[in-house]
Amino acid sequence: MRLPSKRLIVSGAAAWLIAFALGGMDSRHASIASSDHSGPKTWLGALPFEGVAFAQSQGPNTQMSEVAFKNIQVLKGIPVDEFMGTMGLFSAALSVCCGDCHTGAGTSNPKWEDDPPRKRVARRMVSMVNAINKDNFGGRQVVTCWTCHRGSQSPAVTPGIDAIYSTPTFVPPDILPVAPPATSGTPPADQILDKYIQALGGAANLAKLTSYTAKGTSQLFGEAQADQAEIDAKAPNQLVTLVHQREGDLARSYDGRDAWVMLPLTVVGEYPLTKGAKEGAKLDAQMAFPGGLKQFFKTWRVTYPATLDGHDVYVVQGIGDEGMVATFYFDKKTGLLTRMIHYANSAVGRVPVQTDYSDYRPVAGVMMPYKYTYGWVSGREEYSLTEIQPNAAVAASKFARPIQRAK
Ligand code: HEC
Ligand code: HEC
Repeated sequence: MRLPSKRLIVSGAAAWLIAFALGGMDSRHASIASSDHSGPKTWLGALPFEGVAFAQSQGPNTQMSEVAFKNIQVLKGIPVDEFMGTMGLFSAALSVCCGDCHTGAGTSNPKWEDDPPRKRVARRMVSMVNAINKDNFGGRQVVTCWTCHRGSQSPAVTPGIDAIYSTPTFVPPDILPVAPPATSGTPPADQILDKYIQALGGAANLAKLTSYTAKGTSQLFGEAQADQAEIDAKAPNQLVTLVHQREGDLARSYDGRDAWVMLPLTVVGEYPLTKGAKEGAKLDAQMAFPGGLKQFFKTWRVTYPATLDGHDVYVVQGIGDEGMVATFYFDKKTGLLTRMIHYANSAVGRVPVQTDYSDYRPVAGVMMPYKYTYGWVSGREEYSLTEIQPNAAVAASKFARPIQRAK
């Protein structure tokens, strides 16, 4: 992504704090959504969750933004994880960081509830966007912060002549059009998914893999050093990823029922994922045992084939029950999955999570990606596995909340 100012290249927690400190001077130095090296990699971790109790008796997913926070005027009635997704989308849309709208973000004394001018503008923008969608698009969420801002604080007004006469950049829509099989030459979803299962080693081998533990490293976007990572998985769909970051542990877990995220740099313990985001976590866990992928979605659709990093791919989309949409890119030649993006709805648009897979190698007769990149609005982690133990014993407590922190 192009950015308007010179980048600072620093690393580690210091970068995160510097990003905030700079926010007041030149907010464009700090970005979570760009190729900026000084942006906060883990902003969610800075949340004021201390004392936020998730009402367990009503299920873990009932904490609403206006209850968890102090000064909520427009983003009411949404769960905490969705609220944080909206903050991620704000930051991404404007290429800014939390500290550009909030007082004291990144310090030991953040005042998230304060209303500095830019935050007030953002609040007005939420109302504006809701009104645009309501008045013109029957309430469909077609205009979002990104529609105008595209990574800039002042949306462009005039088309540049160079832009008119250069190759337009094609940005596919989230919900892809269905390709007519007769003319597009695309096989039905069933065939693409069957070929994937074959490519992985076949249904029989997949069924024999019932758990695994893996070790390796996770390189956080913008960081100079990689962190140790541990992954535990148990069929059919339990998964926990634990990364020992310098600032503390990052973890994502799905225990077959509930999903949790735990972040470092934090006052927070953990927060639960809800709705489409939880369904996304469930899908991530399913992908540890992809033999069950076909059954995961009731609705599959095939769109036009595409090219991804120079490889021809089939593009297939699954529509979940809780509003999650997931797009899968299967290499035409190998049949293997190279990319998966899942989207969860939020009050201000879809929140994307993208995983890119590579370096498939056989483990107990099943091809497993030794490298993958997990990108979300709060950072991008590049995993590189060094060992995978198939069918290792994994204690149920691994997936349970609270997530186990490193000693
Ligand atoms: C473009 C401006 C903008 C950015 C960037 C932004 N926020 Fe916000 N934030 C807001 C607005 C506006 C509200 C109030 C929403 C409302 O009134 O419903 C808010 C509210 C909050 C609250 C609730 C505070 C309270 O107690 O009432 C928290 C916590 C928060 N933001 C965290 C973050 C984090 C963490 C980031 C960085 C990812 C971030 N925000 C980025 C505009 C922003
Ligand atoms: C229809 C186009 C449009 C949409 C959609 C839109 N904005 Fe804006 N926004 C603008 C324009 C234009 C400006 C600059 C206004 C000016 O220069 O006075 C702006 C300015 C801002 C600013 C002030 C930036 C600064 O320089 O301090 C913030 C913050 C902001 N928008 C947040 C948002 C958020 C958050 C959303 C999504 C909820 C959003 N905007 C959606 C058009 C839009």
